[in-house]
Amino acid sequence: MDRNMILIFAVDNNWNIGYDGDLLYKISEDLKRFRMITEGNIIVMGRRTFEALPDKKALPNRTNIVLTKDKDYKAEGSIVINSLEELSPLLEKLKASSNKEMEVFVIGGGNIARQLIDYCDRAYITKVFKSFPADTLIPNLDLDENWQIINESEVFTEGDMLFKYVDYVRVD
Ligand SMILES: NC(=O)c1ccc[n+]([C@@H]2O[C@H](COP(=O)([O-])OP(=O)(O)OC[C@H]3O[C@@H](n4cnc5c(N)ncnc54)[C@H](OP(=O)(O)O)[C@@H]3O)[C@@H](O)[C@H]2O)c1
Repeated sequence: MDRNMILIFAVDNNWNIGYDGDLLYKISEDLKRFRMITEGNIIVMGRRTFEALPDKKALPNRTNIVLTKDKDYKAEGSIVINSLEELSPLLEKLKASSNKEMEVFVIGGGNIARQLIDYCDRAYITKVFKSFPADTLIPNLDLDENWQIINESEVFTEGDMLFKYVDYVRVD
């Protein structure tokens, strides 16, 4: 598989991303940005993340790919695959049949991020300056010398949340 996928995640101070099947926080500005970045592109997610989407429906205006071992699984509006081996040929096919450049975003959750991080060369991370109770996390790119920050926004506020957007690239 090519190494050109992009991680896009919202993390807390400890790079936690979820608790009990849900997100740790919802910042409307961040969700808007997520939509703008991913629309028109391909998004890849695990079954648990799909089930956390609003109404358990594919995100609109994107090609949704859901990974599950369950061969009978139906994910409305999405392409379901049963192994990572199926991902590469599927992406090739989707890109070949599209008349525009499509990027591939790994949108969740922790399990899928750990399996696909080696195939990613960029990451869009929203960092909230808070620590939440959590049961799911992604690798801390700040502790990984293979990843380097290339862009960091100012700190924004929404409600009681302080957050910033941090973009990383793989440098190994
Ligand atoms: N903060 C954020 O940015 C963010 C983003 C997304 C999700 N989340 C949160 O993350 C949590 C979910 O993450 P998670 O790590 O528990 O689960 P996940 O990565 O979303 O999904 C895991 C599931 O994917 C399937 N799967 C994994 N590897 C596979 C493979 N190689 N082949 C086929 N199927 C495979 C399996 O489904 P089956 O069990 O059906 O076989 C597995 O149980 C939720 O709390 C969610 O809200 C947070």
